[in-house]
This record gives sequence, structure tokens and C-alpha cells, in this order.
Amino acid sequence: MAKKPAHKNTAKKLSRSAIRARLVEAAKAAQKNSYSPYSRYPVGAAVMMDSGRIYTGCNVENASFGLTVCAERVAIFNAVSHGEKKIRALCVAAKSAKPCGACRQVIIEFAPKDAGMIYVDWQPLEKKQKITCTTAGKLLPQSFNPSEAGL
Ligand code: THU
Repeated sequence: MAKKPAHKNTAKKLSRSAIRARLVEAAKAAQKNSYSPYSRYPVGAAVMMDSGRIYTGCNVENASFGLTVCAERVAIFNAVSHGEKKIRALCVAAKSAKPCGACRQVIIEFAPKDAGMIYVDWQPLEKKQKITCTTAGKLLPQSFNPSEAGL
């Protein structure tokens, strides 16, 4: 019998804390690739999609500052460009990790209200970290709603 891909065997059965641990590690690893010479503020993000696969991203800055893309959007666009459209949980790692307003709008495009949001406040050279958990439904009260707009 053909072997199932790893994510089919395991990811659906992972506990919340196991998912959280995987995402925290993946977001921290992605943060190492941050291209942030202007702000010197590296951010990493990791998103677990409905399939159980994890996609990562880091912030990518530009000399023309407005072209900078946040880690969360890079991770989500990475997932979507691989054919994934439903977020199960997302993790951001930074000194003070919280998605900006633009990223929140992008997150709610693909995340059900109960999708987990995990923020890891830490700095790579420090040993301590603070993890905060919330849900996608809490990110943007009174947000733009495509179905209300008839889109
Ligand atoms: N940044 C992110 O990558 N994600 C956020 O949620 C907030 C801000 C990046 C953008 C910029 O490269 C740097 O952090 C400082 O704002």
C-alpha cells in the first residue's frame, strides 16, 4: 500500500499543545530568515493549514519602505500559493509579536473564527519567552465583511 504523506498520518490527531509547539518552533526558525535591515525588527510566522501542513514566512523589507511585507502575509501567501485556503492556527514570533491591521484583514480572509492565534514574544538571544493565545474571531471587530458587501 502506498505510504500516506506525513501530514495525513499525524497532523489531524495532534493536540492543541502539540500544534502550538510545532508552530512556535517553525515561526522562530522562520524569523532567522527575516530581511529587515531598515527596522532591525525580525519577525517570523508559521501557519498550519487545514491539511496539517505548516507554511512559514518572515518579514521582507525594501529600501522603498512601503513595499515591505510582514511575516504573517508572507506565510499565508506561501500557503495559498500551494493550494491551501483554510487556516487552522497561526503563530507570530517577534520581540513583541502581534499582527498589524493589514495582516489581520488577510488572516480573517482565510481563518475561521475559532482558528488559533499564537504570539511568541521573545528575542533570539534571550532565554525567556511569553506565549499568548487567542482566536481569529477576536482579531478585528466590525471588520470589512465580503459577504455583507455582496462580494
Ligand atoms: N512586521 C511584521 O512582519 N509583522 C507584524 O505583524 C508587524 C510588523 C514587520 C514589518 C517591518 O519589517 C518590521 O516588522 C517593523 O515594523
